[in-house]
Amino acid sequence: MARITYIEHDGREHVVEVKNGLSVMEGAIRNNVPGIDADCGGACACATCHVYVDEAFQAETGRASAMEESMLDFAENVQPNSRLSCQIRVSDDLDGLIVRLPENQH
Ligand code: FES
Repeated sequence: MARITYIEHDGREHVVEVKNGLSVMEGAIRNNVPGIDADCGGACACATCHVYVDEAFQAETGRASAMEESMLDFAENVQPNSRLSCQIRVSDDLDGLIVRLPENQH
């Protein structure tokens, strides 16, 4: 279980508890956090689950795979800390994770 803070582009924060094994994207969808579309349902095929991982957690969340990197090319305003949230698996190590959401997903 990890407590994850999702911060919308306008600064609104949503703090939710997400079970281990789910993705950071699923944690948002299941808790009605707005700002993550996840059109492909987590198949790493749409890039509408783009988030910015807080720098303090970049080591814990790991690096994007080659496939994820190529999908990020379809996201807007990609930064060095950009990730596709469907590709980040929740574990106890991510307790306290903060992700910021882009202005839009398209
Ligand atoms: Fe489609 Fe993450 S939900 S790439």
